[in-house]
Amino acid sequence: MASKIPTTMTAIEITQPGGPLVLKPGKRGVPEAGPNELLVQVHAAGVNRPDVLQRQGHYPPPPGASDIPGLEIAGDVVAVGSAVTRFRPGDRVTALVAGGGYAQYCTVHETTALPIPAGYGFIEAAALPETFFTVWHNVFERGGLKSGETFLVHGGTSGIGTTAIQLASAFGAYVITTAGSDDKCEACLKLGADRAVNYRTHDFVDAVKEATGGKGVNLTLDMVGGDYTERNYDAAAVDGRIVQIAHLNGAKATVDVSKIMIKRLTHTGSTLRARPVEFKAGIARELELKVWPLLVQRRVAPVIDMVYPFHEAWRAHERMEEGKHVGKIVLDVS
Ligand SMILES: NC(=O)c1ccc[n+]([C@@H]2O[C@H](COP(=O)([O-])OP(=O)(O)OC[C@H]3O[C@@H](n4cnc5c(N)ncnc54)[C@H](OP(=O)(O)O)[C@@H]3O)[C@@H](O)[C@H]2O)c1
Repeated sequence: MASKIPTTMTAIEITQPGGPLVLKPGKRGVPEAGPNELLVQVHAAGVNRPDVLQRQGHYPPPPGASDIPGLEIAGDVVAVGSAVTRFRPGDRVTALVAGGGYAQYCTVHETTALPIPAGYGFIEAAALPETFFTVWHNVFERGGLKSGETFLVHGGTSGIGTTAIQLASAFGAYVITTAGSDDKCEACLKLGADRAVNYRTHDFVDAVKEATGGKGVNLTLDMVGGDYTERNYDAAAVDGRIVQIAHLNGAKATVDVSKIMIKRLTHTGSTLRARPVEFKAGIARELELKVWPLLVQRRVAPVIDMVYPFHEAWRAHERMEEGKHVGKIVLDVS
């Protein structure tokens, strides 16, 4: 097996911070698997908003991570480190990585790799890790969403949003979401949202109050921040929780903190990429146990917006920045 592995590979490099065209194919050495790592021949890589932020120079890779963008991959295991116990060369895996996904080969800690769900190809499999790990942790572990609760997710057609709608709905929550057009709202309803609010034409706080009989939502997953921060407090139920995962409208907000006190709100948040591998491994175990069976049954599935050839990663970033996508954008690395 090892003799088939080349010494160099093509990877998409960020040649300098800037627009999509700074993404260019370059030659790199094939990375070597450490003791607990797999070397994966990548067949597909997911594209995520954090990759765009990294390309723009706003989101540097954490210490020790590759400077090549790409946080999720799917492919064939071609070599394993000396301490690897679960996977073998020839296994098909999907994996969360801290960087290096836009490449023909990528190393992965074995505990953040998962077997590709039965019936899934590499393109769909590569669209799973980043949003499923993020949503599982922030909505179910950190946010504590329970069956029968009401859940609001902003950006319903984003990679994160399409995953959050499906998982929250599958686990018995009443799901309200926001999106920037009527077509996008329609797509959210098809994915299982109970209510979709076009935030350009309707006030989401009013819509939430109407949908919940004036009570407000138990949990909000927010990627917007800025002026949404206080409005999320207004849309929350008593003892409501708000989980912040990004701030597309700005990191700073002026809020009336008495609203937190009066409703006994909890406002928390997290970032996934810089967390230790042991933490990510814990999420991987939970996903395999509780979510992989739903994927196999197709009760939830990744929503694929567009697939681009690997060498045209710049087009994938252009598509994401246009903001017209519904679901995931994926690179075909075959
Ligand atoms: N904290 C973490 O661990 C973590 C992990 C992964 C991703 N993230 C973050 O999560 C966000 C989503 O990531 P992604 O890869 O899924 O990106 P994406 O598909 O590009 O999603 C961005 C979404 O934001 C929506 N949006 C922008 N302004 C909005 C507003 N005012 N109200 C409602 N929606 C608004 C856009 O929808 P419209 O066109 O409808 O406006 C779009 O669907 C990104 O900011 C990313 O950095 C965080």
